[in-house]
Amino acid sequence: MNSHNTLICVIGGAGYIGSHMVALLQANGYSVVVIDDLSTGFLTSIPKVLFEQGSILDKEFLADFFTRYNIGAVFHFASSIQVGESVSNPRKYYKNNLIGTISLLDQMVESKVSKLIFSSTAAIFGSPDYTPIDELHPRRPLSPYGRSKLFVEEILADYETAYNLRSVSLRYFNAAGASPCGQLGERHFPETHLIPLLLQCAANRSPSFSIFGNDYDTADGTCVRDYIHVEDLCRAHLLSLSYLDKDNPSAAFNLGTGVGHSVSEVVSAVEDVTRSKLNIQIKPRRPGDPASLVADGKKANLALGWMPTRVDLKEIIAHAWAWEQKHPWI
Ligand SMILES: NC(=O)c1ccc[n+]([C@@H]2O[C@H](COP(=O)([O-])OP(=O)(O)OC[C@H]3O[C@@H](n4cnc5c(N)ncnc54)[C@H](O)[C@@H]3O)[C@@H](O)[C@H]2O)c1
Repeated sequence: MNSHNTLICVIGGAGYIGSHMVALLQANGYSVVVIDDLSTGFLTSIPKVLFEQGSILDKEFLADFFTRYNIGAVFHFASSIQVGESVSNPRKYYKNNLIGTISLLDQMVESKVSKLIFSSTAAIFGSPDYTPIDELHPRRPLSPYGRSKLFVEEILADYETAYNLRSVSLRYFNAAGASPCGQLGERHFPETHLIPLLLQCAANRSPSFSIFGNDYDTADGTCVRDYIHVEDLCRAHLLSLSYLDKDNPSAAFNLGTGVGHSVSEVVSAVEDVTRSKLNIQIKPRRPGDPASLVADGKKANLALGWMPTRVDLKEIIAHAWAWEQKHPWI
């Protein structure tokens, strides 16, 4: 059945990427209901849709939810997301990301909901043997966060074989930017992502920014990452839903622009966009930071027809800056 006629459940719809997804689904005529426990998300981030506050760890809540709503497909963004915290507190990550997801999958099987789009991550690859990273690259996560996502990907394959629950796992590289209209943007506490941290510095909300390592084997010695606009990520979800609607089998796709930017390049771009000079300090490398993570997006292009459209780093930063300036209380 085509999902356009049915209700889409967005879990984690009060978060950064999930809230943009809700807005895009609405703009494309879908009916949406959000589940979120508001552990890291915000009620004010949810566009005007149905909302049920609850956790995927709460089986009774899920059972009641799926009895009350006739759900056509689930978009699953809910997760604990800090790589460093996952090393010091792995049980939080295995509980929320793994046990929580299994409880969601079991309820979906029970309720005969057979389409899932899952937020996976480049962290499943660990330190890459080569870049750009394609889907055939070995998967060797370096953190409990990355492992929790890889385990879910593997469980999804088993659930397709046994229960016909079909899924698309989307491995985001570095999500960045904000909605161009300025209504939605990134809010994480604590913030660990590069661009918002630099923008907080530009807005004088933090005194300095630390670069961890300038002796990597990259052009300028700082780490290289692939920054993908949040709206491009969300478009890939819509295309994944059409892919599942056409009865295609489960799949996993790497999502990035295919172009890497070093931390120093991002600092310069932020200085240009915000017309400010940032106070940058060089610190030693952090353990577990690969020199370069860049996606090969060809498989998503071929199977989904997906192409990132907002690939200009300064445009991505300008959208995030507009959001940052509109929300100085964050
Ligand atoms: N931000 C990135 O750069 C990035 C990169 C790769 C993958 N991802 C993945 O994308 C997804 C969304 O990331 P984000 O940056 O929007 O994070 P976020 O923290 O802003 O959003 C996560 C949302 O899920 C909710 N949530 C968490 N645990 C829940 C639970 N047990 N039950 C119900 N709701 C729960 C939170 O309250 C929050 O609203 C995550 O799965 C993350 O692992 C993000």
